[in-house]
Amino acid sequence: MKILVTGGAGYIGSALVEKLISLGHEVKVIDDLSNGFIENINQKAEYLNGSILNDELLSRAVKDVEAVFHLAAKIRVEEGEVKPDLYRQVNIDGTLNLLKLCNPFGVKKFIFASTAAVYGEPSDYPVSEESQTKPVNVYGRTKLEIDEYLSKSAKSLGISAISFRFFNVGGAVQNFKQEWLKIKHEGATHLIPSILRSSEAVPLLIYGNDWPTSDGTPVRDFVHLSDLVDALVGSLNYLENPGHEIINLGTAKGSTVLEVTQAAKVALKREINYKFAPRRAGDSFALVTSNNKAKKLLNWQPTKNLINILEDASKELTSNH
Ligand SMILES: NC(=O)c1ccc[n+]([C@@H]2O[C@H](COP(=O)([O-])OP(=O)(O)OC[C@H]3O[C@@H](n4cnc5c(N)ncnc54)[C@H](O)[C@@H]3O)[C@@H](O)[C@H]2O)c1
Repeated sequence: MKILVTGGAGYIGSALVEKLISLGHEVKVIDDLSNGFIENINQKAEYLNGSILNDELLSRAVKDVEAVFHLAAKIRVEEGEVKPDLYRQVNIDGTLNLLKLCNPFGVKKFIFASTAAVYGEPSDYPVSEESQTKPVNVYGRTKLEIDEYLSKSAKSLGISAISFRFFNVGGAVQNFKQEWLKIKHEGATHLIPSILRSSEAVPLLIYGNDWPTSDGTPVRDFVHLSDLVDALVGSLNYLENPGHEIINLGTAKGSTVLEVTQAAKVALKREINYKFAPRRAGDSFALVTSNNKAKKLLNWQPTKNLINILEDASKELTSNH
């Protein structure tokens, strides 16, 4: 199948491109490299260098493709609060530009990278696709706006669409040459990169140890990049009739931040130096999803655990930085 991956030089996009090509698909990539690496893009992919905000380039990207995985986005929660216009422009206007082209160019399948951030600070444990959406930041609001647009318009656009709401994605994958695809670590504030960067001199900061959880630290759901990519690829077989589904992607297993730190001690074979800091505004104490819908519709099953995630993330860091 001929497939477009927007954001195909990024963390998830490049792993997806690698997998699609290994399965024999013909892949095009559009990416402006604002947060990706050109060397991550498999050379068998046709690469268009530029922004999804460039209509002419986007038309070339969409031409002749049957399916689009739309991953290009601005992704940093904190940055979104300071640059809301940029986040709306790329994440909303850019996506609407792309959707406008689907019908005229005959795109049949549209897979959108949405996020757990649309649930905000959920009271449901685990979260499900029916849980209330109440994003607490600009990033989450931009993604929710597209989820809602797709629910309303996918049928009339003639596309079979899924919004995948990713929970915490971690780990790394290798390309066909057994090289680790590069991960951008600068500016990343997520837990696993922060653990990898921690040292005797720079402790990991754990925000809040007074949450109502087993050890007082927040609970998160970590899914390995390769499992996530399997779900994305699997959706190509599922998508058929015009319409829209929302599917949460996670392992349904919660780990507290302290449990992740303990797992890191095993996986990285070193002590993890940490200290507690005050809670951060907008953090939720428990973000774990049910994955019954993904399992049922896509016949998907995550296979990797937290130790695999930490080991692979550490190998990527050692080999690429
Ligand atoms: N990584 C996670 O844990 C996670 C969780 C939830 C949702 N998501 C979503 O998954 C998608 C991929 O995330 P990621 O972690 O791989 O991020 P990433 O930043 O590594 O990948 C996004 C890619 O899009 C490109 N890009 C940004 N703006 C662009 C533009 N205007 N035109 C063309 N390309 C542009 C970047 O250069 C980058 O290569 C995003 O849509 C993100 O919101 C990721």
